Amino acid sequence: METETAAQKNMPDFTALARENVAQMPPYIPGKPVLEVQQEYGLDKVVKLSSNECPFPLPPGLGEAVSKAISGCNRYPDAMCRHLRTKVAQKLGVYESSLIFSNGAEEGIRLIAQIFLNQGEKTVIPTPIFDAYSTATLLMGAVPVKLPLKNDRIDLHAILNVCEQDRDVKLVWLCSPSNPTGDVIKKQEMDAFLARLPRNIMVVLDEAYREFITDDQAVKTEDYLNSDPRVVGLRTFSKAYGLAGLRVGYVVAHPQVIALVNNVKLPFNVNSAALAAAEYMLDEAVFAAKHVALAVSERKFMRRELCNRGLSVPESQGNFLFVKLPDSLQLDGSALFHRLLPKGFVVRPGTAFGVPGYFRMSLGTREDNVTFLQEFDRALP
Ligand SMILES: Cc1ncc(COP(=O)(O)O)c(C=O)c1O
Repeated sequence: METETAAQKNMPDFTALARENVAQMPPYIPGKPVLEVQQEYGLDKVVKLSSNECPFPLPPGLGEAVSKAISGCNRYPDAMCRHLRTKVAQKLGVYESSLIFSNGAEEGIRLIAQIFLNQGEKTVIPTPIFDAYSTATLLMGAVPVKLPLKNDRIDLHAILNVCEQDRDVKLVWLCSPSNPTGDVIKKQEMDAFLARLPRNIMVVLDEAYREFITDDQAVKTEDYLNSDPRVVGLRTFSKAYGLAGLRVGYVVAHPQVIALVNNVKLPFNVNSAALAAAEYMLDEAVFAAKHVALAVSERKFMRRELCNRGLSVPESQGNFLFVKLPDSLQLDGSALFHRLLPKGFVVRPGTAFGVPGYFRMSLGTREDNVTFLQEFDRALP
């Protein structure tokens, strides 16, 4: 039996010492690393389809660009990410003063929550959706108001009703394409939404998957920089540009909002290697374009294949699909996850989003997608 050390005996109750909001937060449960799955099941290859990452190897020139940056790592990085900011501003056709960079879009979510949410204020969160909005809300001692989707789409009417009736609502989290459904908000819908939304409510538009959109009616933050500065856009290099491991995202917003982000962000939140990589990938451009084209063709192929098997799969504008398992199968997303894992496929069970009858899968290469379908067929009862 383990004996209690002197240090353990004198240990304070850290949970009691923590800020109340922090102590009450649900723990973050990380996914199993690929290597661990490989070792546990003795597999040569594991296909990770659980985090909407890029499935292709990155271009060879990237390594050289990053090595060059690393040789200058005795110096702090540029806190304003000036070179990258100029390139992104040109690409989006926005002023540089409308951009600020973050440690992935997820840091952008935290920063916006830190800026706008006081204890007890409310945020509206369509559900199921990316869980970072709820975490950031809770961290600030604010209250998430979760509203269900309607026909797998964000229900802007229901959100408006809450915002019009509850004066404590400070911010609405929107996502387009939304994770996990892949649905986009149309510009016309957003215009009508903003026209009715009370003036003092902020709107975050998470566009982590922006580059995968083919629907030309879809909303984009740039459309509102002049007309409605309540809209704050979030983007990332983790998805189309394949840099999830290096952590670069950015906020697109009115310069006054950008100035507030600058007040709260850590000065060196984007490191030198990440900066160099993002600049390289933006200049290179071919890789991201090819990756997007493949994701678009794979999402059509896989949706058709899954629908042909009698599954319900909403049309996705992202690099992932959200799949409903028919009740008749008596197999939920978590059971499917456990059946596919020993076969070397990792999907995201719907339990992670509070919808156990679903699973979300990223789109892999054609070869991996075809093998996935074979294993999926075998996994069904
Ligand atoms: C909707 C959404 N926003 C943000 C992120 C996080 O992106 P980043 O890697 O830039 O932090 C994700 C990651 O999966 C996401 O799905």
